[in-house]
Amino acid sequence: MIRTVTDLVTCRGELDGRGKQLVFTNGCFDLLHVGHVRYLQEARGLGDALVVAINSDNSVRELKGEGRPLNSASERAEVLLGLESVDYVIVFDGKRATSLIEAIRPHIYAKGGDYTAETLNSEEKEALALAGSRIEILSHVPGKSTTALLAAANEQSGQGGIKLGVLGSGSGTNLESILAAIKDGTLNAEVAIVISDVEDAGILERARDHGVESVYVDPGERANALAMSSQKQIKQRLREANVELVVCAGFMKILREPVLESFAGRVINIHPSLLPRHKGLRAWEQALHAGDAVSGCTVHFVTDELDSGEIIRQQEVAVEQGDTPESLHARIQEAEHQLLPMIIGEFAAGAFK
Ligand code: GAR
Repeated sequence: MIRTVTDLVTCRGELDGRGKQLVFTNGCFDLLHVGHVRYLQEARGLGDALVVAINSDNSVRELKGEGRPLNSASERAEVLLGLESVDYVIVFDGKRATSLIEAIRPHIYAKGGDYTAETLNSEEKEALALAGSRIEILSHVPGKSTTALLAAANEQSGQGGIKLGVLGSGSGTNLESILAAIKDGTLNAEVAIVISDVEDAGILERARDHGVESVYVDPGERANALAMSSQKQIKQRLREANVELVVCAGFMKILREPVLESFAGRVINIHPSLLPRHKGLRAWEQALHAGDAVSGCTVHFVTDELDSGEIIRQQEVAVEQGDTPESLHARIQEAEHQLLPMIIGEFAAGAFK
């Protein structure tokens, strides 16, 4: 039976009175797999009762796209309640379970092992701190996710799109535009993995929010370079995820031989200027300082020289009177969000062989 907030508030109070602890976790749980089962067992073992908060059908659709969930909330709840580890199931709307955490005030909050205490959403973290909940990160079963299962099924039936590995160091709005194009059916692709050299980068949080495997790779000692061991690690992770096209979307380090050789002709980058003008950092600001009347963005193949590989396509953006670096960058980004998914689609269709 699906519980109400009132049920769970009462239950928390009762457990508390008996010196026992309520564990809380949340997710979509659309197609249960062994990763879920182990994770829920581990979560249950942390306390005396486990509440699983599942995203409502609308909120799964919002997160994962049309066509999801495969199972309705009541079906997902029924499957979960069939597990020995699950005591209660509740359904919530929206992307985050913050209001449930605030109301139920669980003793322990359990989260999957692809998160760290640092990368939990700040809104949820704040609610947990206020509720006095202890955060526990559980072990991760690599490669096991509903999204990966569906991708494998699509591949079997010949319906899978090109597999992308997205690298980024920033907020990840370009990743979001790729995922949106996949979601609305205009891009037949799958983001197999997202890798960042910045541990708390927004792009990793966005990937996690969409159920995409997200990996932080320590860049090494030097501030502006990527150590050879990190380059090898990135190559390894891309290979393991069976990536076919590597997309640099705000990745601020130079890639070298390990990745470039392994994915020859299959690494592209988006840059916020009309290359070869304004290579490097804050290219939009460089365009403003240079007094350019027209700026824009470029998608190009990646070489080991900064922003220098063969140009695939550019999109112009007019510089307007009174533009600030921020306003110009925002308009360039709008152009990026159209251009990058479009080029990926063309790449998938074999346009650049
Ligand atoms: C984008 O504007 C991208 O063109 C730029 O970083 C931003 C990342 O934004 N890349 C470079 O400057 C590479 N030289 P995002 O994280 O929101 O996608």
